[in-house]
Amino acid sequence: MNSIRKAKLDLESIHSIKKLCFHDDNYPLFFNRQLIDSSQDYFLVAQKETLVLGYVIGNHTKENDQGLLLYLGVHPDARGKNVGAKLAEQLVKLLENSQSREIFLTVHPNNAIAIKLYKKARFEVTATYDNYYLDDEPRVLITEQTV
Ligand SMILES: CC(C)(COP(=O)(O)OP(=O)(O)OC[C@H]1O[C@@H](n2cnc3c(N)ncnc32)[C@H](O)[C@@H]1OP(=O)(O)O)[C@@H](O)C(=O)NCCC(=O)NCCS
Repeated sequence: MNSIRKAKLDLESIHSIKKLCFHDDNYPLFFNRQLIDSSQDYFLVAQKETLVLGYVIGNHTKENDQGLLLYLGVHPDARGKNVGAKLAEQLVKLLENSQSREIFLTVHPNNAIAIKLYKKARFEVTATYDNYYLDDEPRVLITEQTV
């Protein structure tokens, strides 16, 4: 039975899943701690017994009532079992409860699995950028209107 809860000091589990998900593009361990501190209630992990299976990190900005999904990652051994979809769904619920008018995220256009997951969660592709993160790679902007 999987449960989804707020991330605590699950730094090592999250870091090792991130390494498996994003390979060389992983962030240093201290950055995950900063994300736990800054994202607070919007940093969730999925857990089975004592094992962390995946994580989702979001945020909410009050000024423009926008929600953001920053990162979603599931351990390769736990994929295809709805863990990613449940994490995304739970974050969307939290952001909706925070009165986010719109939730957005960016993803590489080749990431068909993630794009399919987000579309199933009612997100839509709304724009494409050639060099959003200045890494000479394109990204699609995906948004969900909540009202
Ligand atoms: C994207 C990712 C989070 C999906 O996690 P997951 O737990 O395997 O996804 P789920 O089991 O919840 O699948 C949800 C939907 O995603 C799609 N999907 C998942 N695995 C898939 C696969 N191997 N092939 C095709 N579609 C797939 C399906 O639409 C699935 O819905 P279904 O029930 O109709 O099959 C995971 O593959 C991952 O961590 N990838 C690396 C990191 C990444 O790309 N993150 C997203 C960008 S920020």
